[in-house]
Amino acid sequence: MKVTTIGTGYVGLVTGACLAEMGNHVVCLDTNSDKIRILNEGEIPIHEPGLAEVVRRNVASGRLQFTTNVDAAVDHGTILFIAVGTPPGEDGSADMQYVQAAARSIGARMTDYKLVVDKSTVPVGTADAVRNAIEGELARRGVALEFSVVSNPEFLKEGAAVEDFMKPDRIIVGSDDERATLLMRALYSPFNRNRDRLVVMDLRSAELTKYAANAMLATRISFMNEMALLAEQVGADIEWVRRGIGSDPRIGHDFLYSGAGYGGSCFPKDVKALIRTAEAAGSGMRVLRAVDEANERQKLVLVDKVVQRFGDDLRGRHFALWGLAFKPNTDDLREAPSRVVIAELLRRGATICAYDPVAMAEAQKALAGLEGLGYAASANAALEGADALVIVTEWKEFRTPDFEFIKSALKQPVVFDGRNLYEPPLMQALGIEHWGIGRGTRAPGASV
Ligand code: UDX
Repeated sequence: MKVTTIGTGYVGLVTGACLAEMGNHVVCLDTNSDKIRILNEGEIPIHEPGLAEVVRRNVASGRLQFTTNVDAAVDHGTILFIAVGTPPGEDGSADMQYVQAAARSIGARMTDYKLVVDKSTVPVGTADAVRNAIEGELARRGVALEFSVVSNPEFLKEGAAVEDFMKPDRIIVGSDDERATLLMRALYSPFNRNRDRLVVMDLRSAELTKYAANAMLATRISFMNEMALLAEQVGADIEWVRRGIGSDPRIGHDFLYSGAGYGGSCFPKDVKALIRTAEAAGSGMRVLRAVDEANERQKLVLVDKVVQRFGDDLRGRHFALWGLAFKPNTDDLREAPSRVVIAELLRRGATICAYDPVAMAEAQKALAGLEGLGYAASANAALEGADALVIVTEWKEFRTPDFEFIKSALKQPVVFDGRNLYEPPLMQALGIEHWGIGRGTRAPGASV
C-alpha cells in the first residue's frame, strides 16, 4: 500500500520504517531538511536498537524514502499518518499547532481519497479537529473530495520501539467509517501474527485509550515509589513487597520498579495533558494529580539521600554519576531524572563526573554550560576520586560492575543506587555503603 508519514521524529520514523519492512511503499516527510539529509545518507538521528538496519534495508529496496517536499508526500500516500510532535504548552496541555498544520497541508493539496491517521498522542476530540481542518481547506479550494480520519495511537517503548511495532500486543483503531476500518485492517494484517490484535472502537475512546494506558503505568510507578518511601520508614524492603504483590495476577510483575522517578517524552507529558483535559471537562482527576506530584518529588529522592549522608552544603564534594538517559537503551534525555539530580547537586556546590553508555553526546548538547559537570569515557573512569557514586539509570553494564574497583576508586565506598541494582546484603558483605530506594536499612549495619 502507499503510505506517507508526516513528521519523521521518533514515532513517524519507526512507523514508516516498519511499514516499509512489511512491503508498503512509504514516504516520510519532515520540514527539517538536516534530518531528511541525514536519513537519506543512511544515518538515523536517534539511538533505537534495530532501527538503522530496517531503515537501510528498506531505503536500499526503494520502499522507504525521505523528503521535505510536502506536495509529493501528500500526493504519494493513500494512507497518511500524522506523526508530528505535540509538545506540552505552558499550561501542560498538548500543543496542537503542528497537527493542525499537517491536517491543513493535506486538505490544501489532496486530489483523491485519503485516509488520515492520527498517530501522535493527541487530546480527545482531535480527530474531529483534524477533519474540520481538512474540510476547511477543501471548502476554500471549492473541491469536494472524500477522506476519512482515524485514530491509531502508538504504544512504542523507546529502546524497544521496532520490536513493539513489529510484534504489537494490541493495535487500537478509532474509526467511525467502514472504508477506513477495512484499510486499517489490511495495513495491519501482517502484524496480527497468531491472533487478531486489532481493537476497533469509536474515535474518542481510541484517543482516550492512549492517555489512560500511560496514566495507568505512571500511576503504578508513583504508587511503588511512595510505597518505597514508606518501606524505608517502617524498615521493610520494597523489593520483597514488589515480588509479593506482583504474584497476584491482577497486579502482575511488570512495571512495579521503584526508582529515581519516571521520565521520558510520554509519561510526564501525557499525565499532565490528561489532567488538563479532565479539568476542561470538569472532572477532578485527583489520582493523576498525586501521581504527577509524587513523581516530581521522586526525582529528588537521590539528592535527599546524598544530603542525608554528606550534609546540605556539598561544596568541595565530587560525585560520579552513572546514567543520563531517562531509561536504558535510549539516548533520550527528555524529562530524565538525571537532569534534576545533576541540577540539584550542582546547586548545592558539588561537582560531577557523569557517564552514560550512549547518551553522552545528547547530554553534552542538552546540558551544555552547566558549570561543575564533566564527563568520563567509561563508567570506571567516572569514579576516580569521587566522594560517592550516584546511579540514575539501570543500564545493563552497571549491573555487575567491578565492586573492588569501585571501592578503590572512590574516596569512600558509598553508592546511591537509584534503580536498586544491587542487593543490600551483598553490598554489606563487600563493605560498600549502599543507599537504595525503599530498601529498609539505610546503610550497612544501621538499624531502622
Ligand atoms: C512509554 C510507554 O511504555 C509506551 O507504551 C508509550 O507509547 C510511550 O511511553 P517510554 O516513555 O519509552 O514508553 O518508556 P517506559 O519504558 O514506559 O518507561 C517510562 C519511565 O518509567 C522511565 O523513566 C522508566 O525508568 C520508568 N519506570 C518504568 C520506572 O520507574 N519503573 C518501572 O517499573 C518502569
